[in-house]
Amino acid sequence: MESLIPTIIYVLTEIDTGNSSRVTLRSTVSNKKLTRDDESTLYYLTFEILRIMNVVDLFIKMSSSSFSLKKIKPKTRSLLRLATFLLKVEKKPIEYVNEILEPHYKQIESLQLSTILVSIQEITETQLYENKHDLASRFSIKYYTPTWIIRKFLSRWNEKFTKDLLASFLQNLPMYVRVNALKANLKQIISVFEDKNIDYELVKEIRNLIKIIYSETPIPRLPEFDEGKFVIQQKASALVSHVLDPKPGEKILDMCASPGGKTSHIAAILGSGENIEAIDINEDRIKILVKRLELLGVKPTKIIKSDSRTFYKKSKTKFDKILLDPPCSSSGTYSSRPEMKWRLKQRDLRWYTNLQSDLLKSASKLIETEGCIVYSTCSLFQEENHNIISAFLRENTNFSLVEATPMLGLFSELLENKAQELYPHLHETEGFFIAKIKKED
Ligand SMILES: C[S@@+](CC[C@H](N)C(=O)[O-])C[C@H]1O[C@@H](n2cnc3c(N)ncnc32)[C@H](O)[C@@H]1O
Repeated sequence: MESLIPTIIYVLTEIDTGNSSRVTLRSTVSNKKLTRDDESTLYYLTFEILRIMNVVDLFIKMSSSSFSLKKIKPKTRSLLRLATFLLKVEKKPIEYVNEILEPHYKQIESLQLSTILVSIQEITETQLYENKHDLASRFSIKYYTPTWIIRKFLSRWNEKFTKDLLASFLQNLPMYVRVNALKANLKQIISVFEDKNIDYELVKEIRNLIKIIYSETPIPRLPEFDEGKFVIQQKASALVSHVLDPKPGEKILDMCASPGGKTSHIAAILGSGENIEAIDINEDRIKILVKRLELLGVKPTKIIKSDSRTFYKKSKTKFDKILLDPPCSSSGTYSSRPEMKWRLKQRDLRWYTNLQSDLLKSASKLIETEGCIVYSTCSLFQEENHNIISAFLRENTNFSLVEATPMLGLFSELLENKAQELYPHLHETEGFFIAKIKKED
């Protein structure tokens, strides 16, 4: 544990300054060549601290009025968060926490770490709830989620549904592996898993999808992963390409493609990337997309760096199927990306919804008559899902909803029971929304 402290502080600081937990953890583990034990300690501490960060920060704020958590150096902030977690959650002795962290601590306002730890030690759970009178504020402490997000959930669902959903964000979701049919088949991957004593289950509704029940070996360390024979993909995300239902010979457009999870899946369903065009606006993400599609044997997909909002102005092609998986608040992914709940501000939602609705308008100009657009997000907010689709259908009466099947989640009562919603506490996958709309003759 002691030798891992600089690494934990580094990872927490990287995430605190805007990097993704997934990417930071993966690159740190491979750059530092961590042992398996250190890798699991690092993952555990990072995720658990991120999941309960409002309460960790509240302890630190209550411990001293002489400094502001926002104003101290990011590294010191990470160190205090780690110290608080070890003290209050892991119940480690105060002397131990001080001893292992003191060498890494830079004084704030002449405050010794031991002084801060003593104050944090004395704060009781009841004190955390002081002045938290309404349900959303109390749930915010109990389920470690910003109050404004809880208010949004409570405005759509009852207390029980909201509680179960919030509790599910504090747990790990199962890992799913999709066999890449362009490079391997289900039998081959199953035999690898059996050789390694990996406990798994086939997801019967989705071809080539496997749920990992237990594995001693971290799945990304299997050579078949590096060879692109399978990918790690959440169940809900793997469902989207089946809702799109691409058929050989159809022209397919993926409007927001990087890192290529769904583009590669569409190609795998078709057995080739031949009739697919994949767009992304971001130069760095295009590089990631190119590399990934190459690894997964997706050829000869046309990869285009462009703004999909205006792509219709230059495209000579109309498409039979369009996948629109736009940037979103990621509010369905708090279990695997807990940093997203602290990063998102209520005012940011408008930015996402404007972009999503512009992208959908553009998709409508690129689709063939009788063609279908699949719109998906990993968000649970109505503004990014139902409202985008309803507003679009109101303005474009030549489009109509069709059932977003295969159905693994719940039909959305807000959209004629035709769109699909998935929830972590009900469907063992990230929160997702999938709608399918058709351009009528
Ligand atoms: C949710 S991610 C897509 C994930 C991808 N579909 C997958 O399954 O791997 C959204 C992507 O949209 C891209 N993007 C954002 N604005 C865009 C725009 N105006 N035009 C094209 N791509 C855009 C982002 O760079 C990002 O890579």
